[in-house]
Amino acid sequence: MHKNRMDQDVEYVMYTRRKILKRVRELGKELKNDYEGKNLLVVSTLKGSYMFLADLTRAMEFPFDVDFVSCSSYGSGTVSRELVFKKDLDCDITGRDVLIVEDIVDSGNTLKALKERLLSRNPNSVKLCSLLDKKARREVEINVDYIGFPCENEFVIGYGLDYNEKYRNLPYIGVLKREIYE
Ligand code: IMP
Ligand code: MG
Repeated sequence: MHKNRMDQDVEYVMYTRRKILKRVRELGKELKNDYEGKNLLVVSTLKGSYMFLADLTRAMEFPFDVDFVSCSSYGSGTVSRELVFKKDLDCDITGRDVLIVEDIVDSGNTLKALKERLLSRNPNSVKLCSLLDKKARREVEINVDYIGFPCENEFVIGYGLDYNEKYRNLPYIGVLKREIYE
């Protein structure tokens, strides 16, 4: 018997809720060490990072601000990517320390474009924190400063990550069964 109907679509659990929370607490302490006393703005990328953001920010026990962006990048191959904001930041980041919180770095295109765009607004610094790092799929060079976990080259869902907008509310990170999307 399945507790949750969505569990049936999961091939295997990659990271349990327990394991995620343990790692998120470690990241929170690391970020406190690095950012306490600075003018930190945490920038969350919608929608996939919402659950990670909720747990991570509660593990960061010092004052900072939070803002949200929603963006996608278009173009492929040698054509340079264009970043389009569906929602831009509400605030000015001049002179501030910005930490982008992302769910997963895959090709790296979106994050690279977003980082470049934010850097053009004269912040003091821009760093990246991603829950998952799917290195095998990287198309552009990008340094992820804080990584939750490595991710095998599989399509993962849960803990904020979706397939066709579904499965975000699974409490763990799982691999989606191929029969669902093939
Ligand atoms: P990229 O790094 O620009 O290719 O885009 C990364 C974005 O694609 C992430 O922020 C996710 O929204 C989405 N994505 C990439 N891989 C996965 C996955 O395995 N599951 C769910 N979403 C994914
Ligand atoms: Mg995303």
